[in-house]
This record gives sequence, C-alpha cells and structure tokens, in this order.
Amino acid sequence: MYCKIKDILDGKFDGKEVEIKGWVQNKRSSGGIQFLIIRDGTGFIQSTVHRDKVDKKTFEDAEKITQESSVDIIAIVKKDKRAPNGYELQIKKLKIFQISDEFPIGKKEHGPDFLLSHRHLWLRSPRQVAILRIRDTIIKSGLKYLDDNGFYMVTAPLLTPTCCEDSTTLFETPYFGKKAYLSQSAQLYIEAAIASLAKVFSFGPAFRAEKSKTVRHLTECWMIEPEVAFLDFEGNIKLQEELVTAMIKAVLEKNKKDLDILKRDIKPLKTVEPPFVRISYSEVIDILQKNKFDIKWGEDLGAPHEKFISKQFEKPIIIHRYPVEVKAFYMQPDPENPKVVLCNDMIAPEGYGEIIGGSERIWDVKLLKQRIKKIGISEKAYEWYLDLRKYGSVPHSGFGLGIERVVWWVCKLPHIREAITFPRTLNRLYP
Ligand code: 4AD
Ligand code: MG
Repeated sequence: MYCKIKDILDGKFDGKEVEIKGWVQNKRSSGGIQFLIIRDGTGFIQSTVHRDKVDKKTFEDAEKITQESSVDIIAIVKKDKRAPNGYELQIKKLKIFQISDEFPIGKKEHGPDFLLSHRHLWLRSPRQVAILRIRDTIIKSGLKYLDDNGFYMVTAPLLTPTCCEDSTTLFETPYFGKKAYLSQSAQLYIEAAIASLAKVFSFGPAFRAEKSKTVRHLTECWMIEPEVAFLDFEGNIKLQEELVTAMIKAVLEKNKKDLDILKRDIKPLKTVEPPFVRISYSEVIDILQKNKFDIKWGEDLGAPHEKFISKQFEKPIIIHRYPVEVKAFYMQPDPENPKVVLCNDMIAPEGYGEIIGGSERIWDVKLLKQRIKKIGISEKAYEWYLDLRKYGSVPHSGFGLGIERVVWWVCKLPHIREAITFPRTLNRLYP
C-alpha cells in the first residue's frame, strides 16, 4: 500500500507491506546490509536491504544508489528500538527513478557562500527542512488566527507610484516611460479597504533596498499586515500579542521534532502569553544610558540597542511611543505628549529584535496634510490617501509582522537568510 513516512512513524502500518516514494538522504553499508535513510517530505525513516533477503538485482541496485537518488520502494514495516525513529523498513523491491550525481552538500562543513549558492540543494538538509516546516506553521497559524477573528484578506499592489515607509530603501523600476517602485508595505492600500470591510489584512512580499549587510535584513521579506477600523493603540497591541501567541502555540504543538533538530530550547517560547513586557521609548533610552550606550532622546533605536533590551527578557517586548521624527508620516501623535506617536515595535526576546512595527494612524485630514508637507513628500502623489480622510474618516490602527523575523527568533537562527526559501540580500540574487 502506498503511504507516507509520517503515517508509518505514527504506528499505522506496523508489520505491514508498504510502498514509499522519496529520496535517499544517506547511505552506508555493513556486511551484507545496505542502510538507506529515506525522506519523502513527511519524515525520515531508516530502511535496510539484506543481501540474503532480496534477489540479486535488487541488492546490486541498492549498491549503486547514491545520496539524494530518487527511489520507489516496497518494504515491510518493523518496529525497532535501535532505529532512529523507532521504525525500520525492510526493503523487498526497489525501483530507481534517478541515480543522483555526487551531491555537493555532504557531511563536511561548508561556508555560508557555498551553501547560499547551492540554496536549491541546501534546502533538503534536515535543518533546513525543519525551518521550512516551522515557517509553514507560523504563516498558516497566523492566517488561521485572523480568519477565526473575522478578518478579510485583501491584497495590495506590488508596483506602486510612491513610498510607504522610507524613501531611501525603495527599489525603482521603469514603468512605460514613468517610474514605479516595488511595494515596501501594503499598509496605505489596505487602509482604503477598511471602509469596505472594517477588519482586513494583507499577506504578501515587501521589498526594501537595504544597502547594509546585517543578520536581520532581507531585501525581500514577507509580511502579515492587519488593519482595523475603530481600533485604538491599546487594541492594536492586544491584537499583536494574540497573533504572536497563536503562532508560538501552534509551533510548540506541531513542530516538536523540528525544534529538536534545531536544538531549540523551548522554555522561553513556552512563556509567550499576553500580556508581553511593555516599556516606553523614553524608558528604553534611560535604561540604555544607564548601561553606557551613547544615545540621546530623539534618536532611533538601532540593532545593538534592541539586542540589549531584548536580552533582558524571555517574553517579547512592546516598545511604545517613539519620537515623531524617527517614525513614518502617518502615525497619530499622542494627545498627552505630541512629541511622541502612538506607535509600537514588538521586539523578540533572547537577544533578537524587531518583529512587528505598528501604530494608530492619523485620521484627521489637516494633520495628515501637515505631516506630508513637513517631511517634504509630494502631496499630489498622496491625494488618494488623503481622500480616505475626507470621506467617512475613522480612527484606525494596524501593524506589519515580518514572517522571516519571527522564524529567525523562533528557530533561534544566527542569520535571517535561513528563514526564507530563497533569500535576497545585498549581495545575493542567485539562485
Ligand atoms: O516596521 P516596518 O517597516 O512597518 C511597516 O512597513 C508598516 N507600514 C507596517 C504596517 O503598519 N502595516 O515593517 C514591518 C515589519 C518589521 O517589524 C519587520 O518584522 C519586517 O516587517 N521587516 C523586515 N524583515 C526583514 N528584512 C527587512 N528588510 C525588513 N523590513 C521590515
Ligand atoms: Mg519598523
């Protein structure tokens, strides 16, 4: 019977004959036995070919098999405590789809450049498979949380005429005699959709021409961006806490084995539950100054600052109320202190950094015009965005969660490039 390795490991086929299609992850031989570790996308299992239990051709075929060869096998499932996953397959018949060329990624250590140039093959290693699976859970559990809570999914254009976040990180592309930019965020467009659907989110890629090499910046990343009518700053933070908690809970439930492969200590992840730690930007500046950081009130927080704050806690940290000057033009000033805006970043703990950026949005047309003028961007380009404040404007809030940043932290990766299938960075556009 054709089946999946996961079902065998779940004990559904003990003693039965099964058929498996997959790839040979690893091979060794000892005496008259060939040991093959087979992978089929649902798991790994050890299988054996005994010289005295199969016909001559099957054993010779097994001898020819190389790492990453693709195969179709018929075998008997045996419970075996000595086998890596508690089960072993005793192969009876073997069909080879293709004998793999010598696989360039072996057991020896490779440098990051080599691995990134072979990303299309590196993706098969157990560590990368574990990361891909965790990423899948993070995305799907996030989308499920939003679906369960009455959000509509909308999409936004990726080719845009203006900037959303930071004009220094725009990717420009020719557009029939004009200029277009790759989208930095869906936010401005999904703000329009709240007047249609009230609770919306977008899930899609965002592009940032990050010109520096860091362990947390990609030039192409994926974001979940909720936007909600009549939601205030406090409600927005609560929504962020619940969304991240839902993601972590799902990973702890579904990805135990994957976290084991990554040797991830899950104790800190288990503490992730609302309310998260809350500190204002001003308090953060005090803490940093007391710890000999050279930073003044009014300056933006950089990676070393976030890292320091992040290391003090096991739970994620909400840093709120940044100075107006360091944040985007659309953020609502705090009525109690107009020098700061009603925004927050969520910082992942354990020495990581920002995973979410969000805010209450300016909904008064005059104030929004002033902000656009002050930072010197063309009002004409934002006419449609200003319209949203003229026709039934309402208080509203939203945020953007960076999928790779969450994967980076949850998997405790040293570098964000492993958190996406094919990373795009300053020096990397291949494969
Ligand atoms: O903080 P950012 O820039 O916020 C926005 O774009 C808002 N317009 C979102 C919104 O309110 N709808 O980006 C949001 C998140 C960051 O917190 C981070 O997790 C991720 O997107 N992000 C990146 N991830 C990897 N590489 C990069 N270069 C990233 N830039 C942003
Ligand atoms: Mg940000």
